[in-house]
Amino acid sequence: MLKRIRLFSKIHGWQIDLHERQLLKIQTAIIIRKYSLCTNTDTRTLSILGNSYIRDPTTNITPKIIEKIGKNLHCIHNHPLNLITRRIENYFNDNYRNSWRAPMFSKFDRINPVVTLKQNFDSLLVSRDHPSRALSESYYLNSEYMLRAHTSAHQSDLIKQGLDAFLVVGDVYRRDTVDASHYPVFHQMEGVRLFSKQELFSHLGDTSRVTFFEEGKRDATKQERHTIDTSLFIEEDLKKTLRNLANHLFGEDVEMQWVDAYFPFTHPSWELEIKYQGEWLEVLGCGIVEQELLSSAGADSRVGWAFGLGLERLAMRLFSIPDIRLFWSEDQRFLDQFNVDDPNTNITFKPFSKQSPCVNDVSFWVPEAFSENDFYDIVRNIGGDLVENVELFDNFVHPKTQKTSNAYHITYRHMERSLTQEEVNEIHENIISTAVQELGIQVR
Ligand code: DAH
Repeated sequence: MLKRIRLFSKIHGWQIDLHERQLLKIQTAIIIRKYSLCTNTDTRTLSILGNSYIRDPTTNITPKIIEKIGKNLHCIHNHPLNLITRRIENYFNDNYRNSWRAPMFSKFDRINPVVTLKQNFDSLLVSRDHPSRALSESYYLNSEYMLRAHTSAHQSDLIKQGLDAFLVVGDVYRRDTVDASHYPVFHQMEGVRLFSKQELFSHLGDTSRVTFFEEGKRDATKQERHTIDTSLFIEEDLKKTLRNLANHLFGEDVEMQWVDAYFPFTHPSWELEIKYQGEWLEVLGCGIVEQELLSSAGADSRVGWAFGLGLERLAMRLFSIPDIRLFWSEDQRFLDQFNVDDPNTNITFKPFSKQSPCVNDVSFWVPEAFSENDFYDIVRNIGGDLVENVELFDNFVHPKTQKTSNAYHITYRHMERSLTQEEVNEIHENIISTAVQELGIQVR
């Protein structure tokens, strides 16, 4: 016999009788709702790295993401992301010195990842209607603050401070698909180098006959304010620097190619691809810094280049790390493999256990305003690092109702131990009921 429980509200003056199981369901729903909305007791504010932010309708950051802030994996001694960072920093230290032999590039690896939308977008000339500003793409604290989506967010501030050669390493955050090479938090390194006219043309000796700036036309090879010489000299310096970096990381024989690209803050822009195990792999984006960005940052008399690279991407190739979730593992069987004195030591990761996966499916009618990233965030929020992959395997529109149906395989696999089917089912059911409540999906 199920126990009945009487609930009443003193404030609103109602009372209601419920079965124990019904009460349990309501309580679970309240907990899930609360958990998915905040980690603080105060539901109106978010507290991140000691600062408070008032929630508003744009807030979409989740507790699982908040947990990652401040972990600074790239600063943990001998973490693979730290090893790769040190390899790159050593390359810049060894090859770029100023006239008094000190390293030319200043390094920043602990800048707060909470930035303003102005830093992440406006300072980089990202247009108001650019798709990267969509709520479905990034994590917003409110309409003014977000988690940086790239380390480029700090370019303008550091240039304003008067720096003309710097590296920024940090965690960046993007809402994305769930698979072995995508994780909503990853790490980037940004590099910027600015030149005065004398510096850029130093190897010509007498620079009085070369023109640095002009009022010309923008075309595929240059910006309005740059002469063709200025643009070509910056391009050559940039490409030489990055080619040598790729050789330093992947060896002298690595094949590489430049691919034309577009970024709002550089022109011209390129991506560097390297041939890795028979396939072209994009390793970085780069280009000649837009002069408008430099003039807003008070450095209009200079020109320069910038690049941004993804550290996980490089580390996964260099150390043969098969799954991006491993970077967050605290298992000594993972960490011990990177415990070396010399960051240049060759390391090939040896998987310590490959647990078998459990794959559960779900198919549902999607509501009108549905963004796949909302669903992925619920999966990550509830399933955490147990979810290895979410794959959309079927999608159709019902001919009569015009409703869209999506069907997903969700692959669950623990990195360190085996999972039971019951454990997985409970998480899976939880994901579905939360998606029903929060997104309004209808299970088929
Ligand atoms: N911020 C870009 C990204 O995350 C990468 C990038 C491209 C950085 C070009 C740069 C650059 O500094 O010049 O995709």
